[in-house]
Amino acid sequence: MNCSDAKKEILRVISQVEPRELPKLIDWMKNSDDLDDYLIDNQKVILENIAEDLRTCLPLEAMFSSERLAIQMTQQNPKPTIHVDAFLYDDEAVDLLCEEGKMSRNYCLSCGSQTTAPLEFISHSFSILELQFLFQHVLPDLTGKIVVDVGSRLGAVLYGGYMYSSASRLVGVEISAEFVQLQSMAVEKYGFSDRIQVIHADICTQAALLQEADVLIMNNVFEYFLDLNGQMLAWQYICQNFRKKNSLLVTVPSIQEAFTKLKGNDCVVDICQYFEEVTVNIDAYLSKDSDADSFKQIHLYRVL
Ligand SMILES: C[S@@+](CC[C@H](N)C(=O)[O-])C[C@H]1O[C@@H](n2cnc3c(N)ncnc32)[C@H](O)[C@@H]1O
Repeated sequence: MNCSDAKKEILRVISQVEPRELPKLIDWMKNSDDLDDYLIDNQKVILENIAEDLRTCLPLEAMFSSERLAIQMTQQNPKPTIHVDAFLYDDEAVDLLCEEGKMSRNYCLSCGSQTTAPLEFISHSFSILELQFLFQHVLPDLTGKIVVDVGSRLGAVLYGGYMYSSASRLVGVEISAEFVQLQSMAVEKYGFSDRIQVIHADICTQAALLQEADVLIMNNVFEYFLDLNGQMLAWQYICQNFRKKNSLLVTVPSIQEAFTKLKGNDCVVDICQYFEEVTVNIDAYLSKDSDADSFKQIHLYRVL
């Protein structure tokens, strides 16, 4: 049966359902797991394939030993914390790793006993669900726009933007040579080089790029990777150069939260003069797969 015939057949069946039964049927079509295998989108499959490729190139913790500051900061967290990259490992993959004994969601409070507490998980990448939410719901139509991901790491934002938006250019700027190499490999393998470019550089050398960007993405970019003074200087540089009126800035966490940690530093930037927050309506998007808590961390601002 071709698509057009299938549509007619579905409508025919629906038209025969008793009116009082119809809401139940519609609810089943929208929310039941029974249809999951049929509803999986092709873009998601490609992103999952990229994640699978990248997993084979990285240790389980998806960090390189050269990331000394990030490793040290993770270890210094008040609660025992592990890095699980959300682009590489979704909840199901984490469950599987736990079953196989390769990962744990808990740590032992008194060695040898069964008293355990949950570990803190942090991720240095967006998950595929977050990318879908970001490009299909948070951001407007990006046709003809330039998106810059500050600290593009595995390239998750770039691939997500390629799949879920019509942005004409997606540029990743990454300071770590090892991650640039991984991104370049994926961009070439999946034939993304017509719209994706990866630059190996400190964002604080990219004034021209920041000046032409229409959308800037900053996902937890500095917190684990720069000391407080370095973070402040990087923010200052971005505020001075990302100035195109009505351009959009996406941050995780909110700018306010990022700046709270920088308070007391001599050169705190007055963000109110640069950006205004745009409300993101999460409720309109939530589906059974979505993760409201992680979506709430995504903040959108307009350049004034
Ligand atoms: C939390 S990851 C962001 C990952 C990615 N943007 C995403 O959302 O999936 C932060 C990345 O920023 C990089 N980074 C930190 N400071 C940077 C800087 N000044 N210039 C360029 N990249 C930087 C780090 O090496 C790290 O890979």
